[in-house]
Amino acid sequence: MTVAHQHDVLIIGGGAAGLSLALRLADHASRAASIAIITKGPLNDGSTYYAQGGISAVLSTEDSFEAHIEDTLKAGAGLCNAETAEFTVRRAPRSIRWLQELGVPFSSETLPGGTRELHLTREGGHSHRRVIHAADATGRALSDTLLNHARHHKSIQFFEQHIVVDLVTGEKQGLEHNRCIGAYVLNKKTGHVESFNASAVVLATGGASKVYLYTSNPDGATGDGIAMAWRAGCRVSNLEFNQFHPTCLYHPEAKSFLISEAVRGEGGRLLLPDGERFMQRFDERGELAPRDIVARAIDHEMKRLGAPCVYLDISHRSAAFIASHFPTIHARCLGLGLDMTKQPIPVVPAAHYTCGGILTDLDGQTDIDALYAIGETAHTGLHGANRMASNSLLECLVFAEAAGEKIIHQLKTLNEKHPIKPWDESRVTDSDEEVVVSHNWDELRRFMWDYVGIVRSNKRLERALRRIQLLEHEIHEYYSNFRITNDLLELRNLVQVAELIVRCAMQRKESRGLHFSLDYPQADTSSHASNTVLTPEKTPNKDRITVVR
Ligand code: FAD
Ligand code: SIN
Repeated sequence: MTVAHQHDVLIIGGGAAGLSLALRLADHASRAASIAIITKGPLNDGSTYYAQGGISAVLSTEDSFEAHIEDTLKAGAGLCNAETAEFTVRRAPRSIRWLQELGVPFSSETLPGGTRELHLTREGGHSHRRVIHAADATGRALSDTLLNHARHHKSIQFFEQHIVVDLVTGEKQGLEHNRCIGAYVLNKKTGHVESFNASAVVLATGGASKVYLYTSNPDGATGDGIAMAWRAGCRVSNLEFNQFHPTCLYHPEAKSFLISEAVRGEGGRLLLPDGERFMQRFDERGELAPRDIVARAIDHEMKRLGAPCVYLDISHRSAAFIASHFPTIHARCLGLGLDMTKQPIPVVPAAHYTCGGILTDLDGQTDIDALYAIGETAHTGLHGANRMASNSLLECLVFAEAAGEKIIHQLKTLNEKHPIKPWDESRVTDSDEEVVVSHNWDELRRFMWDYVGIVRSNKRLERALRRIQLLEHEIHEYYSNFRITNDLLELRNLVQVAELIVRCAMQRKESRGLHFSLDYPQADTSSHASNTVLTPEKTPNKDRITVVR
């Protein structure tokens, strides 16, 4: 007997995007809407909690919307959607005010006249100081505040330790329309699949950087939303643009701990092992060039010298300044025996952010009615070929607000619910060889790092695709025959996203932003730069949902 839940809105994801949307809906819905938030692990398991640098917004009188838009477009290397950039940048200050009203403890400073203002830090690509932050743990402050409010709303119900298996659309259920009507969800506490039925479904599932061996992201960043939307029939875009953050701590116990770009924003210098400063050789903006340029420069120097890492040095700033601006990073480094107030710290690039994703409009609407995507899982056109620092949390906030407005309107006109067919496990057994799953996880992430990383080539992409196809075959067989687990579901999604990344990368016959190919080292200036869009083929559905149920 499948447990069946009914809600007005089903939000998949409890990061900045999902929580902001839930609060917007709970605050503004004209009638008491019932909202479910599902998270794979505990409530703060997404990337949001780990965000360091901050959120970009024009607050200073010396800054302007035009400058923020121009910096965003420049970082995006010709592929941002100018309308999206303008929409986001102009809505940014009111998102910050909303967070202040909720009580996010942003860092502030006393100005010469004695007034207290938010402290604005600086990161790569920004021509002005415009990054609002809570020391170096902005994500934790944001997540804690949003969660605190959401927990007290009686219309919001949390489902932790639940992993969504797949979306349910009218077509899959044999209905006449193809609206999204809910999802099948594995309750990890009971081991059973439950159905969630809703009038609107929102993917706020974060990115897919876990597809790479080395990443700054938490374990759950497996691109589930992108894979599920693709299987349901949504187009995806620009997945070749995987952002590698230039500076993750290089230490066997650090598990790719991020060293915020704000460290470079506040004067940190990148050094080779012999102490030489090198970024000026690659870009006149030096350490504050956009991330694609800095990460590629580090990769180049590490390969040229055979060095395992480069170094980041901010020890010329005072110990008090470092400890107050970067308390989390300082403490973490000290715990590993590295004193950043006295010495350079070893750093390497690691996969950090998925610039592409599920295609949406300015309301977060996807190709499927009643299905929305917001936050890192979406492709709104804001980031183009390379996201500028601190524009991601901003995008989560702005699109949560916009999607909220659209959903409130939708709930007024469409509030019918269709029962979802029960999930059937009668033809599957427990897996006899879990090692297949863990082995395939490792294999996939390693060859994606080697063949589809910072520097690519036709040959490497072809090699990766061949391996992906083998893995897909094996994983599909496993999925069809055995009882599902969290790891199997994530692997199934990861391999799907890996295929989409490689297919996007193969379509781009040039180097641009985060996509660099040895075979096409220049940007194609002969025609208008365009986004890569993949459209799912209408194939007979291979899901267990339709086969069995
Ligand atoms: P997330 O916060 O990643 O949340 C995803 C949610 O979806 C989770 O709750 C997860 O459980 C849930 N989920 C996923 N799949 C499923 C499923 N199948 N079933 C159920 N639930 C699911 N950006 C900035 O703008 N400024 C910064 O300073 C900054 N610093 C960063 C530092 C680090 C270390 C990292 C990793 C990222 C940083 N970023 C930063 C990027 C930014 O944090 C993320 O892009 C953003 O937080 C994504 O938010 P989100 O709400 O889209 O997803
Ligand atoms: C950082 O603090 O360097 C991360 C900022 C971001 O990813 O936008």
